[in-house]
Amino acid sequence: MIDLHIHIVPGIDDGADNLEDALEMAAAASDSGVRAAAASSHANLPGRDPLAWKQRYRDRLELLRAGLKKEGIPLEVYPAMELFAGGISPEGRRVFAAAELEQGLDEGSLLTINGSRYPLVEFAFDTVSDHIEQTLKRLIKAGYVPVLAHPERYRCVRRRPDILYRYEQMGVILQVNKGSILGEFGERVRKAAHWILRQRLAGAVASDAHDPLLRTPDLEEVWDALDFHYGTGCAELLLSENPCRILHNKRIIPPR
Ligand SMILES: [Fe+2]
Repeated sequence: MIDLHIHIVPGIDDGADNLEDALEMAAAASDSGVRAAAASSHANLPGRDPLAWKQRYRDRLELLRAGLKKEGIPLEVYPAMELFAGGISPEGRRVFAAAELEQGLDEGSLLTINGSRYPLVEFAFDTVSDHIEQTLKRLIKAGYVPVLAHPERYRCVRRRPDILYRYEQMGVILQVNKGSILGEFGERVRKAAHWILRQRLAGAVASDAHDPLLRTPDLEEVWDALDFHYGTGCAELLLSENPCRILHNKRIIPPR
C-alpha cells in the first residue's frame, strides 16, 4: 500500500511532535503493509513565509529519512504538502485567495505530491461549494490535477454530495480519509464517506494520520473494510494502484 496523506514529518505541523513519534508512526504504517508515503505536512497556513517553511520542511524530511535508515524501517517517504485553499463561509467571509495557491505552485514555494502534476488540496470545512469548484477549476486550467483531501468532511459536500459528480468529471481526484470510513469523525462523516465509495467516486484512500495513538497511520483495518464492503479490487485500487500512479505522476485508473 501507499499512503498519500500523512503528517509524519516531525515538528513541522500538528502531526508528529518529534522524531520518536514519527518513527513510531512509520513502523506502524510499515507493519500494516504500507511501503511508501507522501509526507503531506500542512504547508501554507496563513501567516507563514512559504520559502522559509519549505526549507524547514526539507530539513525535517531528511531528518526523518535518516532516522528510518538508522532504525531499519522499510518505509520510503516522498515530499508532499497539504495545501490549504481557504474558504468562503456562508456569511461571505473569505479566508484565502486561490491565486496565492496557484502562484506558490508555479514558483515552487509550494509542492505537489512528489513533484507530480497532483497537488493535495484541502479547504476550510465550512466553505461554500462554489469556492471549492472555482479553486479546483483554476488549478486544472493551470495544468494541475488536484487531489481533493477528505471531501466527506466538508459541510457543503455532506449537504449536497452530488456536487462530487461534477468535481470527478472535471478530473479532480477525491481522496477519502481512513478515519472517516471507520467512523472516527462521527456518523455524518462516515455516511458521506461510504456514499462516495458506493458511488465509485473515490480515487484514493489515505490515512491523514497525525500521531501514533489517535489518528494513526496503519492501513490494514481500512483495507479490510474496503475489501468487505466493496471488494478486493476496490481496496487494491484505492490504497495501492492509484496512490502508486499519483506518486509517480501517471494517470489514475478512473474509479467509475
Ligand atoms: Fe491532513
